[in-house]
Amino acid sequence: MNSIREQSEKRMAASHRVKNSTSSARSRVRGPGPSRQFLPAYAKVAELPDEVLTELIDTLNNHFKKNDLAIEGAYPISDHCPLKLAIPKNFQHLLLTGVIMGGDEKNEKDYLAWNPHLGVEKTKRWMEENFPGAFRVRLSVLPPASEFSWHIDTNTSVACRCSTSLNQAKAAFEIKVREKIHTVPMNPGDVMFTNSGWPHRVYNYGDNPRINLVFGVEYDMALRDKLPRLDHQ
Ligand SMILES: [Fe+2]
Repeated sequence: MNSIREQSEKRMAASHRVKNSTSSARSRVRGPGPSRQFLPAYAKVAELPDEVLTELIDTLNNHFKKNDLAIEGAYPISDHCPLKLAIPKNFQHLLLTGVIMGGDEKNEKDYLAWNPHLGVEKTKRWMEENFPGAFRVRLSVLPPASEFSWHIDTNTSVACRCSTSLNQAKAAFEIKVREKIHTVPMNPGDVMFTNSGWPHRVYNYGDNPRINLVFGVEYDMALRDKLPRLDHQ
């Protein structure tokens, strides 16, 4: 049984990890959208059509060896990401949208150019219709027995994140809002807004990879109709 001291040490270690892995400079930036306390911890905002889900799985199968996180220069934003050290080993990203011509490779909002060689036309059409302006659209593969530890992404007033599970994995996405941990239900095909302005982590405790479609959007451009602003949280 854990002593109170052990429990307290664990809590301190957890809070230390959160503080250390937080990109405070990014989280302090303010944009025109609602800050994290005015949005829910998570919410289902759409459902991926079967044909899009199938297309994405096929794409990953066709490019299962391609990892944009591991290719020198393929994914410049990851090289500038302050969370780089927290990225788990063998974490795979297949970027569906790359940086636009003349765009700033350090600005994720410039990752708008759909890769024409990946065979994701249905996905592109559906995304443009349902999530206009979606940027840095990627397939993310978290290997078994690995964790992307507690961290905070960009302030939600600047950019919001959505994530959709593409397979049935034994994995958990947790978001901590003022010491309360919410576990996001990730049913395959459900497009979930995940409030990554709060500390969050993802871990895979199963034997299979966890495969997700992840993208960024601006609240006013793509979420306002789907996700009402809260008074406060
Ligand atoms: Fe994150």
